[in-house]
Amino acid sequence: MNTADSGLEELSEGQPLEDRVNNRSQRPTSQAFKDFMSAGWAPSSDELPEQAAVAPHAAARRRALSERFKTERLVIPAGPLKVRSNDTDYRFRPHSGFAHLTGLGLDHEPDAVLVMEPVEEGTGDDGGHHTATLYFRPLAGTDSEEFYSNARYGAFWIGSRLNLEQVGALVGLRTRNLAEAETAITSNVGDPQFGGISVRLLRKVDEMVDALVDTVRYNTAMDPDNMDFSALDAKDEELTEALSELRLVKDAWEVEQMKEAVAATVNGFTEVVKILPRAISHPRGERVVEGAFFARAREEGNDLGYDTIAAAGNNATVLHWIRNNGEVRAGDLLLLDAGVEADSLYTADVTRTLPVNGTFSEVQRRVYQAVLDAADAGFAAAKPGNKFRDVHAAAVRVLAERLQDWGLLPVPLEEALSENGQQHRRWMPHGTSHHLGLDVHDCAQARRELYLDGIIEEGMVFTIEPGLYFKDEDLTIPEEYRGIGVRIEDDVLITADGAENLSAALPRDPSDVEDWMAGIYAS
Ligand code: GLY
Ligand code: MN
Ligand code: MN
Repeated sequence: MNTADSGLEELSEGQPLEDRVNNRSQRPTSQAFKDFMSAGWAPSSDELPEQAAVAPHAAARRRALSERFKTERLVIPAGPLKVRSNDTDYRFRPHSGFAHLTGLGLDHEPDAVLVMEPVEEGTGDDGGHHTATLYFRPLAGTDSEEFYSNARYGAFWIGSRLNLEQVGALVGLRTRNLAEAETAITSNVGDPQFGGISVRLLRKVDEMVDALVDTVRYNTAMDPDNMDFSALDAKDEELTEALSELRLVKDAWEVEQMKEAVAATVNGFTEVVKILPRAISHPRGERVVEGAFFARAREEGNDLGYDTIAAAGNNATVLHWIRNNGEVRAGDLLLLDAGVEADSLYTADVTRTLPVNGTFSEVQRRVYQAVLDAADAGFAAAKPGNKFRDVHAAAVRVLAERLQDWGLLPVPLEEALSENGQQHRRWMPHGTSHHLGLDVHDCAQARRELYLDGIIEEGMVFTIEPGLYFKDEDLTIPEEYRGIGVRIEDDVLITADGAENLSAALPRDPSDVEDWMAGIYAS
């Protein structure tokens, strides 16, 4: 092409690639336009909100962390906006560790950083060893150019946000402009033996903050050419681990959030049952199911806590089936694993396996009952004093026994259950439980001795979710079992002497499931 004729060469020359996003529309640049856009807006409200109910709980969490790392600066980023494609971002969700320590959930606050600064013993927040300050990009005033010109951060484009004072009042934290964060993170970093401050970072959340800390560590090292990077990584990892372990036992406010998330999830499952006749008649019935649940998640909560698994027939045997583009056929089972994330970012994680036509066949019921009995055995083991791993052991024993009864186990029961056997895992390949909270797989960086080998305590919230999955392609089992996948997943709160089933509002017993579905269609 003759670019000289078209004038393209002249237009593109020297224009940085990142500016070319503006080539699709004309953006006025005249001073007259800027002056006009910067004036005539009603002032933003500076009314202070009431303190949120989470604030004292978040303060107590920071106080516990302060006790663990008394003399060190702790840096906990929220994370940046994440690009979905080109110039389109995902909705913002802060890192769960940041949300836990600040109490900030939905939308708050891209690029923010919480810095816990060590102070003299007893002079910190709540008599602790640190003062905590939240650094974030404040709302640009309506008289600023950013207000209308920044499509990523300007209130003209994305809606108004709370200012520094308002966020401070909401969560009871000192707040400062993000521009001051660099100094707060890097000042006086150095070897404590020589009066410097040791810094620990929640790493891999915000690359910019990682780079800032790496640079200051390098610049202040006694011997920069021989830095012990693995020791520094280990130090940061200890903070990550501590933040994860801090979430193992939920406080009263968190339990309320979990109950809200589960209640919305129960409503989502009810919507799915209502929509099943349409799903059956649709070539991608699983998408109909997924969409019905998602609508509830957005109406009642912030989002899904994780991608919904809407799996009918043989797809139910595919553990991470999130493509959800299959048919939903009468006569098959539908395995729906879905959870609503509340605005606070706490999520439910529930699975029910439903007979699409409202009635379990004999073999479907046989498999379903085995899974239910396994879940009940898991419930019986879920109590303070037992180990977390006992829940899995109890559930899996029931499943292995049933597999033996049906002639499917290739070895004797005890051999299968021994460490060197485990043949039953062909049909129940996942764990029975995981902690649940801000992340669907919460507390994932906790040490094994506090997780799998940990003692169950009052206030823990976790799932009980045994399943059996017999694939169409599995030639080791009789044909009648093939294409049947069943999981029953409930969310439990550990009480003083047992487990409260938070998701008990959804029926579990097979006859109750049938009656529930029939009741929905009758009404
Ligand atoms: N939905 C993910 C899980 O059950 O762990
Ligand atoms: Mn789960
Ligand atoms: Mn699940």
